Amino acid sequence: PSSMAPSSSPLLASETDEKYANVKWEELGFALTPTDYMYVAKGRQGESFSQGKIVPYGDISISPCSPILNYGQGLFEGLKAYRTEDDRIMLFRPDQNALRMQNGAERLCMTPPSLEHFVEAVKQTVLANKKWVPPPGKGTMYIRPLLIGSGAILGVAPAPEYSFLIYVSPVGNYHKGSSGLNLKVDHKHHRAHPGGTGGVKSCTNYSPIVKSLVEAKSSGFSDVLFLDAATGSNIEEVSACNIFIVKGNIVSTPPTSGTILPGVTRKSISELARDIGYQVEERDVSVDELLEAEEVFCTGTAVVVKAVETVTFHDKKVNYRTGEAALSTKLHSMLTNIQMGVVEDKKGWMV
Ligand code: COI
Repeated sequence: PSSMAPSSSPLLASETDEKYANVKWEELGFALTPTDYMYVAKGRQGESFSQGKIVPYGDISISPCSPILNYGQGLFEGLKAYRTEDDRIMLFRPDQNALRMQNGAERLCMTPPSLEHFVEAVKQTVLANKKWVPPPGKGTMYIRPLLIGSGAILGVAPAPEYSFLIYVSPVGNYHKGSSGLNLKVDHKHHRAHPGGTGGVKSCTNYSPIVKSLVEAKSSGFSDVLFLDAATGSNIEEVSACNIFIVKGNIVSTPPTSGTILPGVTRKSISELARDIGYQVEERDVSVDELLEAEEVFCTGTAVVVKAVETVTFHDKKVNYRTGEAALSTKLHSMLTNIQMGVVEDKKGWMV
């Protein structure tokens, strides 16, 4: 069986102070800044998880025969902690991430932590690392919970043992430096297919898109938009975020019917758009409609709400509304004002 105690030596207090003093808060992008502590819990197949503990952040040791390493039996989550002007630390809808992990665990035959355990473990990890939650305006703390099949088993089957881990990192913008995204529509590779795992946050959904992303970035694009595998004519998801189109008073986004990740930001932004009078539709959106939209934007925990400036499909390139006149600019401030405690949280989203 694997041991989840860090296998590298934990840093001494003086070393973590030095690490902290060297953080350039103004320059944070979406990159790992290792913090002081992480959370580790173990569960046996079919039994509830043990409570787990906070341990020094570091490498873990794991059986080479674990299903996460051999068969990709693993889920991850992403949520954030925010430091408000009056120095409170807030989480955004952590219950939604707990529930999404449970859905994913059901799909991958894994044993998940309970909702209460998930939220409590997130709180403990953030509090253990609270100095690393960036000052308001400088960034946020990205929280990465993992559920992995860690017990040794050779055949293809559910793991005998699971590990629930949480680590955190202060982060800035996901797409650093770009005012609007330049997306390339990938008509060769698909991210998900009907009956697959596109609708859960399986680790295996992400490595197959890296090739496409690397190719697009090397041609000057900011990101890739994938099409549905069944027809190749509907838009689905960008590499790490959901997508919306706007035309007149109608905001449309592809439905979460198994091939699209049910984003917590996606759901929250749909609600905020409805609150200000937009009609929000969850339905198939064709590439043709995308190319005729007035505005396009992406949502995600890491990405937040990001305007799309251009979309390129084969050799056709279309420009969209961005900046002050864009709905995405308004929705971005509505959401971040709630998250940063600038306005009252009438939705009860913040913890
Ligand atoms: C998130 O937004 O939390 C994600 O999981 C995207 C990630 C692949 C960077």
